[in-house]
Amino acid sequence: MGQELETGAPGPGAGGAFESLAAGDVFSARGKNVLLTGAAGIIGSAIARVFARNGAALYMTDIEAAKLEALRAELGGRARGHAADLRDPGAMTAVADGALAFFAGPVDAAIHRARLEKKNARLGLPE
Ligand SMILES: NC(=O)c1ccc[n+]([C@@H]2O[C@H](COP(=O)([O-])OP(=O)(O)OC[C@H]3O[C@@H](n4cnc5c(N)ncnc54)[C@H](O)[C@@H]3O)[C@@H](O)[C@H]2O)c1
Repeated sequence: MGQELETGAPGPGAGGAFESLAAGDVFSARGKNVLLTGAAGIIGSAIARVFARNGAALYMTDIEAAKLEALRAELGGRARGHAADLRDPGAMTAVADGALAFFAGPVDAAIHRARLEKKNARLGLPE
């Protein structure tokens, strides 16, 4: 069913992939509510950092609970992690409910970056 992670103290800030894109305040997302899947991944975590830096509230989900918690701790502020398997409809209902409760308002953007299949499997190649 997934597990909602606690909020914590603000962390040191962003790093890693897509750093050049994430480096500047390219837009304002202040007051916006962003729901993000695959948040622990390469693209998802970069998106999370950009939105957090630009003032959005983030509700992040991923199957990798430890990585998600590390990102949540790094972002601090208005970020919440909810570890869940997207293949489980009940878990996704819990994510949606958790996001709406956390935001106490509408979702302004829902961004799906979870990788639900392995590329090699899709291409018919061995893993
Ligand atoms: N990285 C690229 O250059 C690139 C380019 C084009 C498209 N894409 C696509 O964008 C998406 C994200 O790419 P990425 O490089 O960030 O991938 P990634 O593997 O780094 O991240 C994907 C995330 O999805 C999570 N995930 C996998 N299965 C899950 C499940 N059942 N439930 C919940 N979470 C699950 C993983 O834990 C991981 O954190 C993929 O679909 C990829 O094919 C990536």
